[in-house]
Amino acid sequence: MGSHFKGSKENKRDLVLVTGRAHPELAKAVAENLGIELLKTKIYDFANGEIYVHFQESVRGCDVFVLQTHVTPMNKAIMEQLIMVDALKRASAKSITVVCPFLGYSRQDKKSNGREPISARLIFDLFTAAGADRIMSIDLHSAQLQGFFDGPLDHLYAMPILTEYIKTRVDLDNVTIVSPDAGRIRVAEQWADRIKRDGANASPLAFIHKTRDITRPNVVKHGRVVGDVEGRDCVISDDLIDTAGTIAGAVSALWDAGAKSVIVAATHGVLSDPAKERLSECGATEVIVTDTLPIPEEKRFDNLTILSVAPLLAEAMKAVFEAGSVTSLINAKNL
Ligand code: R5P
Repeated sequence: MGSHFKGSKENKRDLVLVTGRAHPELAKAVAENLGIELLKTKIYDFANGEIYVHFQESVRGCDVFVLQTHVTPMNKAIMEQLIMVDALKRASAKSITVVCPFLGYSRQDKKSNGREPISARLIFDLFTAAGADRIMSIDLHSAQLQGFFDGPLDHLYAMPILTEYIKTRVDLDNVTIVSPDAGRIRVAEQWADRIKRDGANASPLAFIHKTRDITRPNVVKHGRVVGDVEGRDCVISDDLIDTAGTIAGAVSALWDAGAKSVIVAATHGVLSDPAKERLSECGATEVIVTDTLPIPEEKRFDNLTILSVAPLLAEAMKAVFEAGSVTSLINAKNL
């Protein structure tokens, strides 16, 4: 097995996959799904923290996908990916697609106060300056982030992976989809349209009325449950779980409102402290995340399930490379 995925007779270019040090397991799984090996790459830190990257095989004329998820310490993961992009540009890659399964800073997509940055826009500008032709990511914090990059951006959704699994875990005649805040109701509607019996109407919705203390990071004030959840199997869906304050508060509000069971599903398991304690103690029936971020042993707990996005990423890369349809993979309208 080589490191180049060969194009067809008409498409004579090669697809190459490179990765940094953030999440080697995911990169290997994507490469396996593509039937190739990762391009041999040397990466190390100098004593003062500067990062060095050297690709050990030619990438001249290749379509290169640079996979790096923005794991903590995030600034280092992002800088490493920028340096990889720069090296590829200078090595005459034909096209460079930046693949960030979890895109860092994407929550900072607008000013809520005077004299604040819009950091998400800055990240896209940095990738543009480094030489990215295209960006691919999964479940951006908000869909309008697509407009922050002046080129093609493939916004993939983990929803089908999560909902197919959840359908096997709940009573489809008694399920309510719960948005953890008012802002994600549109997304919850999509979930409600999927987690149901074939041919049935969408499942009912509820949401948690949540407010934030804008003067303190990660501090959430919880309100009440809006919608009927008594005696129901509830499924809370969110884009990410960071410290789990949002989710733990939502789970306890649902128990207080008489829920029968509470499943938590989120695409990105950031799981910063004290997420593990909060999630394992909040009484959730099951917590489901994907592997867009690595989840080390010490962050895992008994009722945590991790589903892989590797097949989704590999399919999307193939579709981009073969100029196929990425839209058909997205399979989630109007998010
Ligand atoms: C908020 O808008 C996001 O969708 C998440 O709900 C939030 O960022 C999660 O953060 P935490 O887990 O720290 O409450």
